[in-house]
Amino acid sequence: MKNKFINFIKKKNKKKLVYLTAYYKNIAKILDKYCDLILVGDSLANVLYGMTNTRNITLDMMIKHSASVNLGVKKAISVVDMPKNTYNNKSQAILNAKKIIKKSKCDAVKVESNYKNSNIIKAMTKSGIKVMGHIGYTPQFKNKFKPQGVKKIEQKKLLDDALLIQKAGAFAIVLECIEIKSSSLITNKLNIPTIGIGSSKYCDGQILVTDDMLGLSGFYPKFVKKYANLNLIIEKSVQKYMRDIIKELFPKKNNSY
Ligand code: KIV
Repeated sequence: MKNKFINFIKKKNKKKLVYLTAYYKNIAKILDKYCDLILVGDSLANVLYGMTNTRNITLDMMIKHSASVNLGVKKAISVVDMPKNTYNNKSQAILNAKKIIKKSKCDAVKVESNYKNSNIIKAMTKSGIKVMGHIGYTPQFKNKFKPQGVKKIEQKKLLDDALLIQKAGAFAIVLECIEIKSSSLITNKLNIPTIGIGSSKYCDGQILVTDDMLGLSGFYPKFVKKYANLNLIIEKSVQKYMRDIIKELFPKKNNSY
């Protein structure tokens, strides 16, 4: 387990890192063959439960999905998002992170972070929890979407936050929707890997929400590249199934007992 993280960090500047989200076993099993990291993102609030933001997902929901994901993961590092208000202070964060890891058997947690909670991250890592940071656009705390690090003053603040999170012992950090120069600067200044989403090719790795890149979610902002149109594939398959039933082409004798 320790080696898994050491080998992961060693990949910085050598190999780009591949990261995707999964919310249950079957998808996780496919991703595990190709991804360095798999995230049980709190984006499942929007993607699976139709919530308007990620703030009302519960710890129990995250644990249930993470336990399912874990069943499909053999080699990747599995990371679970901590829901909003589950890491407001050191003791609460440690208790909840340990609960997530014990019950789901995943490897690490991710927290939306900045200078304000770097002391919480430090307490978590000191107690042996593997923590991934997340800065830039952080949906648990920011109401309106806006690209981050556009102004010089924001760039400096983001870099300072990233350095503090690294010092607190995080093993990697997600940079969400951070402007090109700023994400490149942060990546160059840090020793731990940066993972970008909408934050340029200069990050050490990339993450997307799997349902978005597979064309399942219907959510395609500029930073999403659609690699498939699963919506259409599923729709066509269901249509064919419907027609087969109506025309009595399914089930056949060999589908019956
Ligand atoms: O919840 C999530 O899926 C995330 C990624 C978009 C980074 O935090």
